[in-house]
Amino acid sequence: MKVGTGLAGFVKLAVVLSTYGAAPASAESWTTPIATGGKSWKDAFAKASSLVNNMTLAEKVNVMAGIPGSCVGNIGGVPRLNISGFCLEDGPAGVRPLHGVSQFPAGLTTAATWDRELIYNRSYFMGKEYYDQGVHIALAPVTGGPLGRAPLGGRNWEGWSPDPYATGVASYLSVLGIQDAGVMATAKHFIGYEQETFRNPYNLDEAYSVFPAGVQAPISSNIDDKTMHEVYLWPFAEAVRAGVAHVMCSYNNLNGTQACENSFTLSHLLKTELNFQGSVISDWGGQHNDVDTLMAGLDMAMPGSGFGGLFGQFWSDLVQLVENGTVPEDRVTDAALRILTPYIWLGQDETPLPEHVFNALPTLWDAPDVYRDVRQDYTAELIRKIGAESATLLKNTGGLPLQNPQRIAVLGNDATDNALGQNACGGAGTACPLENLNGTLTLGGGSGYAYAPYVVTPLDALKQRAIHTGAEISSITVIEGYDAAVQSLVPTSDVTVVFVSGWSTEFEDRPGITLDNNADALVAAAVNSSSNVVVVMHIPGVVDIEKWADNENVTAIVAAWYPGQETGNAIADVLYGAVNPSGKLPFTWAKSLDDYYPNTIVSDPVLEPQSDFTDGVFIDYRWFDAQNITPRYEFGFGLSYTTFEYSGLILSEPQTSSSTLFRSISLNSSAVSASLKLSSAGFISDSDSLQDTAEPFADFDGSNSLYDVVLEVTATVSNTGESSGSEVAQLYVSIPGDGQPVRVLRGFDKAKDIAPGASSIASFELRRKDLSVWNPVKQAWEIPKGQFIISVGASSRDLPLSETWSRS
Ligand SMILES: *[C@@H]1O[C@H](CO)[C@@H](O)[C@H](O)[C@H]1NC(C)=O
Ligand SMILES: *[C@@H]1O[C@H](CO)[C@@H](O)[C@H](O)[C@H]1NC(C)=O
Ligand SMILES: *[C@@H]1O[C@H](CO)[C@@H](O)[C@H](O)[C@H]1NC(C)=O
Ligand SMILES: *[C@@H]1O[C@H](CO)[C@@H](O)[C@H](O)[C@H]1NC(C)=O
Ligand SMILES: *[C@@H]1O[C@H](CO)[C@@H](O)[C@H](O)[C@H]1NC(C)=O
Ligand SMILES: *[C@@H]1O[C@H](CO)[C@@H](O)[C@H](O)[C@H]1NC(C)=O
Ligand SMILES: *[C@@H]1O[C@H](CO)[C@@H](O)[C@H](O)[C@H]1NC(C)=O
Ligand SMILES: *[C@@H]1O[C@H](CO)[C@@H](O)[C@H](O)[C@H]1NC(C)=O
Ligand SMILES: *[C@@H]1O[C@H](CO)[C@@H](O)[C@H](O)[C@H]1NC(C)=O
Repeated sequence: MKVGTGLAGFVKLAVVLSTYGAAPASAESWTTPIATGGKSWKDAFAKASSLVNNMTLAEKVNVMAGIPGSCVGNIGGVPRLNISGFCLEDGPAGVRPLHGVSQFPAGLTTAATWDRELIYNRSYFMGKEYYDQGVHIALAPVTGGPLGRAPLGGRNWEGWSPDPYATGVASYLSVLGIQDAGVMATAKHFIGYEQETFRNPYNLDEAYSVFPAGVQAPISSNIDDKTMHEVYLWPFAEAVRAGVAHVMCSYNNLNGTQACENSFTLSHLLKTELNFQGSVISDWGGQHNDVDTLMAGLDMAMPGSGFGGLFGQFWSDLVQLVENGTVPEDRVTDAALRILTPYIWLGQDETPLPEHVFNALPTLWDAPDVYRDVRQDYTAELIRKIGAESATLLKNTGGLPLQNPQRIAVLGNDATDNALGQNACGGAGTACPLENLNGTLTLGGGSGYAYAPYVVTPLDALKQRAIHTGAEISSITVIEGYDAAVQSLVPTSDVTVVFVSGWSTEFEDRPGITLDNNADALVAAAVNSSSNVVVVMHIPGVVDIEKWADNENVTAIVAAWYPGQETGNAIADVLYGAVNPSGKLPFTWAKSLDDYYPNTIVSDPVLEPQSDFTDGVFIDYRWFDAQNITPRYEFGFGLSYTTFEYSGLILSEPQTSSSTLFRSISLNSSAVSASLKLSSAGFISDSDSLQDTAEPFADFDGSNSLYDVVLEVTATVSNTGESSGSEVAQLYVSIPGDGQPVRVLRGFDKAKDIAPGASSIASFELRRKDLSVWNPVKQAWEIPKGQFIISVGASSRDLPLSETWSRS
């Protein structure tokens, strides 16, 4: 969207927000539980309680209601009690809208590494940049909102995977990483937020605008109870277990009630079932009224009256609303406690953060006038490593790794710089002219974009190699009028590397899955005169490659996703074989958009648009498996320059109930890790989750827990090829009973750097929850009776090992 960032836009939105009416009342109203601090925040909670007890009503409101300030979101604080204000900044791939920070790979990119340590490290080193920029609350990570139900969803790349288990692990680790760096994390967007189209009632100049501003209700995600628990709530449960400080409610409605005033989702699911002890923050523009939101369980109004007043003046009258009896002070007290407890727990009250460098808001979207570099040397290396480890090799008939080519042709505008500067198109509210050569895509657009300090383009990096190896390299980077040039360059080259891309941004869903800039024609021109064409794609998800994927002249295809600032170095590492690709698809790559579950983006121009999640738990690969549809590349698929074999599946009951699921994360012993008990090996033990959920469990016997490990599984992965490589071993469970998916992902382990001829043990741990289904009648998780099939292999459709296990 080209949001009206000028004055006209402000006036218009302010009017909309003062007139937009109340959402339909919920069928049932759930009372917000009073926070207790939970398992790990007891000391912080006690301190917060004594502070809040001494706070006036106005002071409590001061920590709840957003005000104008220099950050994307601002909280005033209570100077009398030495409580600082808070600075809140976007977003999941870097600190936005600041400069002097790193542009990290997108969530989806990081998910494709399937490497727990890299997922943790990305968030930890990003967290340090938030901290050093004086940001108290990071508006990250995306925790399955969107999860990626719709292949065209505009923001899928900001998150991880449409599989709830994979997204759960990534969310858990990301929360730990950010908070270990001393910054409060925000799990977002809660919940069922799966399309951009009709997400908001403002209808300024969003691509989806149909009705006048304020008339159309937000899209309603209508989700049944089983699907809610097993798919959409699952990753948020993991974020809560990791001790996430805040949860951001989303724009959409759920069953007709807006997410930020939905007492069922906020007060029942999140604060009661998941026992969430932190605060709920509204998404910017997701709050439409003062009273219903507060009473449903919203704790912090964002941006409140801040952000240039763009979204209204919410909770600026909260003191009067309490004083005249409209809302009870208890609710305000609880909200203030929920906000201050994690702030104290992280020690932000005792050790002030570095000063936040003031940035004026000339556009609201960028802060071009201030610059403070907080990057650490290691971060660029980490970004490059994630880029290389995420690269997913989809086809290879001998094109890769490059065998010391003497003459290299590089085609595609995606190989090079944006003609208008690397940050020209990505920032929210900015757009490049239609005819601009946007260059290589390193991230998608919107609030999830982070300003790159530089971009090492693929062409930059390949040139460096060519200079080093004495090769000739020549590039064609126009998007039309290249025929004669291609026909003259390509036939004389040993290899032609074609860089293609697909754009995706917040504010609109993707129009389709065709590559941008008529890339199919460019590939056609290349294969017409070269028998060695390698295609590299910078994409936010599935794209249609059917026109050329099977062409014999296409000798390799690599999905390189949105890799951030080190994109060129990362892909050069993979193309030259310095890094053996080990990325695997975190979603299903279909041959056609029609093969996916239909109508996942609802665009009917009606006043109350409804998206019925009738696919239920059959999201992504579960749909393809149930319908027996053959995808182009299945969930979990990805090739290597070497080959692997699986053998020796062993199931055993664990000796202790404590899990090492998230092992090999070396935590920094900062404030947070001090409250996490590390196992003797230095691993995070699953039974040491920072906070416990209160999810009902039908098989509860007085002492067992839903998160105890009940099965340990190991398998041997052998490298049967000629080069060293890493392999993402995956575990799927077929759960007995009617209406269950054929199989669901319940484990993954990246066996790293296995030498040719050598083997490595992949290990997995199944917790009771991993074997459970949600029983809507009992309103509880339960392990169904019958035979479970536990399968291990290289992808969701390449599972050479399996064993059965029965519930006794
Ligand atoms: C709050 O007030 C009580 C007594 O009114 C006092 O003992 C306590 O120290 C105060 N706590 C803080 C944090 O100011
Ligand atoms: C993660 O970061 C730590 C430094 O904090 C480093 O020692 C470790 O090797 C990194 N892990 C990976 C997989 O790069
Ligand atoms: C939506 O309605 C369905 C059907 O009544 C129910 O199962 C589900 O729990 C409701 N979800 C929400 C978020 O209200
Ligand atoms: C209470 O105060 C609010 C905010 O000033 C006002 O909008 C509302 O009408 C008042 N309600 C009553 C019952 O006085
Ligand atoms: C006030 O906060 C600062 C840090 O912001 C801290 O150094 C100081 O000890 C605090 N003072 C009191 C009385 O708590
Ligand atoms: C460049 O990006 C803008 C969005 O910023 C888009 O509208 C335009 O189509 C892109 N140009 C090309 C040639 O892809
Ligand atoms: C393929 O090559 C032939 C002969 O050079 C040329 O006539 C034709 O236009 C080319 N097709 C494409 C798609 O580039
Ligand atoms: C493959 O490339 C060669 C030139 O090297 C060309 O003659 C042939 O037609 C191409 N084949 C296809 C299927 O495009
Ligand atoms: C761990 O945290 C301490 C204190 O915040 C910091 O000085 C140190 O650099 C951190 N270590 C790493 C590896 O980031």
